[in-house]
Amino acid sequence: MSILGIDYEKCNLCKNCVNECPSYFSFDVDQKKIVFSDPDNLCSRCNRCRCRCPEDAILHENMEDLLTFEGVQDPNTLISYETLNNFMTAKRSIRRYKKKKIPRNVMEKVLTSMTHAPTGANIRTLRCKIISDDNTIKQLSDSVMDVLIASGNAKYGEGAKKAREMGFDTIFYQAPHVLIIHSNNPGDAMNATIALTRGMLSAQSLGLGSCWIGLAHGVLISNKEIKEKIAGVKGKVWGVIILGYPAQRFYYAPPRPMIRTKGLDELE
Ligand SMILES: Cc1cc2nc3c(=O)[nH]c(=O)nc-3n(C[C@H](O)[C@H](O)[C@H](O)COP(=O)(O)O)c2cc1C
Repeated sequence: MSILGIDYEKCNLCKNCVNECPSYFSFDVDQKKIVFSDPDNLCSRCNRCRCRCPEDAILHENMEDLLTFEGVQDPNTLISYETLNNFMTAKRSIRRYKKKKIPRNVMEKVLTSMTHAPTGANIRTLRCKIISDDNTIKQLSDSVMDVLIASGNAKYGEGAKKAREMGFDTIFYQAPHVLIIHSNNPGDAMNATIALTRGMLSAQSLGLGSCWIGLAHGVLISNKEIKEKIAGVKGKVWGVIILGYPAQRFYYAPPRPMIRTKGLDELE
């Protein structure tokens, strides 16, 4: 068990914890104190109670320190809508890369951003595999191409065939890194997508480019041998991206049709 109870020396009875998590926190009217109870050990360790306690009065065991940084209490002061929206709108799929590997400390920053992504019920089962060896990337790309060509698919099979004839890698574009997100938890599909999206955006802030590789994802889902023997991952594959320093620049962002929405007209 990780949350142990309340430090009554510190508790100011604000009841934020009760409002946040009435499943396990309650106010004992007779004793006039907050009580924590989780007999079946069901707490998901999301730490929201701790984050909402202004007195840091939630007792815990084996939990990490809370994070603090300027703006954590008012995130809207950290970045304007315009800056954030422009930053996201400028995100392009990068398909040309410099022959330069990403240093470990920079890759760790991307992984840190992925780590802080939310997951359903705070279940932390996602795993990442980073492939940085050029030969392995080539072998994986060739295997994905083989499967696509053998599929006879008019768009992707024919495309892969032509690319191979011309000596192009249209799977990983000779990117320096391939990142595969996977797990054994069948509920991780959305969690993985959110984590990868965060990772790709934070990568952009570090001068890195990235691209989703749905073609490799599809092959890894359906071909156990390629997944285990070449990619070296087990369980379910939830997403594949490439990462590296971009060797291409975009001078504009493309227009997009507004998401078709019902209910907007009801707002003033
Ligand atoms: C789920 C998903 C799968 C994708 N798979 C591939 C892929 O296999 N190969 C590729 O070159 N681009 C892939 N892309 C990139 C899209 O083609 C690209 O996002 C789209 O053309 C728009 O370009 P932009 O990202 O530069 O705005 C994928 C994108 C998404 C969201």
